[in-house]
Amino acid sequence: MKTRLTINGLKAVIEGKEILKGFDLEIKGGEIHAVMGPNGTGKSTLASALMGHPKYEVTSGNVTLNGEDLLEMDVDERARAGLFLAMQYPSEIAGVTNSDFLRSAVNARREEGDEISLIKFIRQMESQMKTLEMNPEFMHRYLNEGFSGGEKKRNEILQMMMLEPKIAILDEIDSGLDIDALRIVAEGVNALRHEDRGFLIITHYQRLLNYIKPDFVHVMMQGRIVKSGGPELAERLEAEGYEWVKAELGIEDETVGQD
Ligand SMILES: Nc1ncnc2c1ncn2[C@@H]1O[C@H](COP(=O)(O)OP(=O)(O)OP(=O)(O)O)[C@@H](O)[C@H]1O
Ligand SMILES: [Mg+2]
Repeated sequence: MKTRLTINGLKAVIEGKEILKGFDLEIKGGEIHAVMGPNGTGKSTLASALMGHPKYEVTSGNVTLNGEDLLEMDVDERARAGLFLAMQYPSEIAGVTNSDFLRSAVNARREEGDEISLIKFIRQMESQMKTLEMNPEFMHRYLNEGFSGGEKKRNEILQMMMLEPKIAILDEIDSGLDIDALRIVAEGVNALRHEDRGFLIITHYQRLLNYIKPDFVHVMMQGRIVKSGGPELAERLEAEGYEWVKAELGIEDETVGQD
């Protein structure tokens, strides 16, 4: 069956405040969807709610991945079902090396008794790190500890390459990357483009989309998608900002508000 993530009328609350206010989107295998939008409009909240972050309470709507109810699953089950999130602010975990973490994550996605051999894992990790032009020493460093902003982002993409998800959500993977790193990370993403893999790419800048060509571009305001188009929409936003979208739709405050 071809990959399909369906999000219908998703509403989510954090600390009593509603942040997602009826989010709809369908992502099919082979498609790249870019979500853009001003600060504080709910983009990262969407990513966290989809991944099952315990702080975000989903109050209505439904989400299915290949027909299965995602919202009923624990975080690890969502990962096993093929969902992956590259976080805007990756956590640092002292005491756990990058390679131990990744090997556990890879094995958690495989059946018991079918764990990847250490040799095969190391070989794969080395080869993907080479693609991302990462120094091999990062294998043995503690997860994200003391990593520079750009190193953290590269490491998120390394995880994605090793886990080969069905749906990859990339939250501001371009923030903090230097010009060469942006190209390298984009090449990593493009190498993973596949007819059975879908991407949700959250970004503020059209520049990333020069490297990773999206099929659809969506504008998020007030906790939902308010406008969709093709790559030309991102170009217009880059040139003109968001005011014209707000004027067109009669939106005064684009954030999720203070209710
Ligand atoms: N844990 C939390 N506690 C309180 N408020 C939160 C929490 N998480 C998110 N919010 C609020 O929800 C709103 C949306 O946040 P979110 O991080 O989803 O925005 P965003 O669209 O990703 O913004 P940015 O482009 O700046 O990353 C913000 O007003 C934020 O302060
Ligand atoms: Mg965000």
